[in-house]
Amino acid sequence: AVGFVFIFSSFLMLLTTIVFILGTPMHRFVCEPITDPDLTDFQTILDTYIYQSMYGGTGSLLGKLLLQNSSHSFSLKKILSDCEGGKSAYSAFELSSMIDISALTNYSGTLDVNSQLDNINVDLSTLEILTPDLTAQLTDLKSSSDINFTEFREQLAQVSVDMNLTSLASELRDFAANISSVSSSDSTNFYAHANTTDSINDNELADFIKAMATLESKIDALEAAVNGTSDTVDNTLVAFNDTQTYLQNNGSQTVKDEAKNYANRLLKVVDSMVNDTLDAHT
Ligand SMILES: *[C@@H]1O[C@H](CO)[C@@H](O)[C@H](O)[C@H]1NC(C)=O
Ligand SMILES: *[C@@H]1O[C@H](CO)[C@@H](O)[C@H](O)[C@H]1NC(C)=O
Ligand SMILES: *[C@@H]1O[C@H](CO)[C@@H](O)[C@H](O)[C@H]1NC(C)=O
Ligand SMILES: *[C@@H]1O[C@H](CO)[C@@H](O)[C@H](O)[C@H]1NC(C)=O
Ligand SMILES: *[C@@H]1O[C@H](CO)[C@@H](O)[C@H](O)[C@H]1NC(C)=O
Ligand SMILES: *[C@@H]1O[C@H](CO)[C@@H](O)[C@H](O)[C@H]1NC(C)=O
Ligand SMILES: *[C@@H]1O[C@H](CO)[C@@H](O)[C@H](O)[C@H]1NC(C)=O
Ligand SMILES: *[C@@H]1O[C@H](CO)[C@@H](O)[C@H](O)[C@H]1NC(C)=O
Ligand SMILES: *[C@@H]1O[C@H](CO)[C@@H](O)[C@H](O)[C@H]1NC(C)=O
Ligand SMILES: *[C@@H]1O[C@H](CO)[C@@H](O)[C@H](O)[C@H]1NC(C)=O
Repeated sequence: AVGFVFIFSSFLMLLTTIVFILGTPMHRFVCEPITDPDLTDFQTILDTYIYQSMYGGTGSLLGKLLLQNSSHSFSLKKILSDCEGGKSAYSAFELSSMIDISALTNYSGTLDVNSQLDNINVDLSTLEILTPDLTAQLTDLKSSSDINFTEFREQLAQVSVDMNLTSLASELRDFAANISSVSSSDSTNFYAHANTTDSINDNELADFIKAMATLESKIDALEAAVNGTSDTVDNTLVAFNDTQTYLQNNGSQTVKDEAKNYANRLLKVVDSMVNDTLDAHT
């Protein structure tokens, strides 16, 4: 079947090339320059003097050049009027002697594309999209998104900061004042502890409380982000499985149908080029 595709495509290439050459371009480059109406003298020059100098004797120079037949005379006047009448170079120069166009138009009689394509056999019955590995990865993704946010928030709520460091610092200062008469060095130390306590309250504890608030809002965002992931993974698994089932059971026929569609579209292009070229010949 692969060989067929190659043969088939080179055939199409050849066909479209020939059809293209016979059509407009030749008309443009061969017919258009010859628009001087009076060419009988020119014909005489061609068929006597030039023929004489090239081949000896007399004969039709164009017949000799185009058809290798010096008896086949081409009338320049007829070619000219044909060209002016809009005929293509193919008919004006009577090239039918050189190229059998009816064989081209009948190419579909010798080329049965559909039955060739029917022989293509693509076996997709063992195709596996949903491999065990892919299934495991999708299942892992699903379980990692199954976070119990209720439980998470409950744990977080238990981390409470219910000590009042401001009142602790004030008690430490009272105590430092009480013992200043007994031991002034201990008193100074307790004033320093009170200052440290204030500092912890203003800096570390404040940062911690801010971080807790940030964490709570991040959890909200995370919950919103993973919301639905589990369902999405389930849908993906089902879609992959459906695709796999379809390709395993109907894949071969689908490939064949699509190949036929493609071939028919190509052939339509060729048909219409052949048609257009032939129309220009009549
Ligand atoms: C050459 O052309 C003449 C006139 O058209 C024709 O009768 C003859 O059969 C041709 N010869 C060949 C070999 O084609
Ligand atoms: C077209 O080709 C087929 C198959 O080769 C043949 O039977 C048929 O006669 C041909 N038709 C023409 C008009 O040449
Ligand atoms: C989430 O955790 C809460 C509290 O621990 C529990 O009551 C609830 O059943 C859990 N939900 C799920 C879906 O496991
Ligand atoms: C800590 O105690 C002081 C008084 O001792 C009070 O003014 C302050 O509001 C308390 N702070 C907190 C967070 O309870
Ligand atoms: C300081 O001394 C006063 C009077 O003796 C007493 O009432 C108070 O409880 C003491 N404060 C501390 C923190 O020891
Ligand atoms: C405690 O802080 C106050 C005010 O910042 C300061 O005047 C005092 O010297 C500090 N005491 C100690 C022992 O660091
Ligand atoms: C998750 O999405 C559903 C539907 O989109 C919505 O009804 C639900 O409130 C969302 N839950 C959370 C926690 O965002
Ligand atoms: C895939 O689909 C087939 C048939 O529809 C079913 O028997 C099979 O259990 C499905 N497998 C999974 C993993 O969903
Ligand atoms: C697959 O092909 C069978 C017959 O071969 C047909 O009945 C079925 O509808 C097709 N399934 C799809 C999804 O096209
Ligand atoms: C070719 O021309 C014939 C007659 O003019 C027409 O019936 C046919 O549809 C044309 N085919 C294409 C592919 O244009």
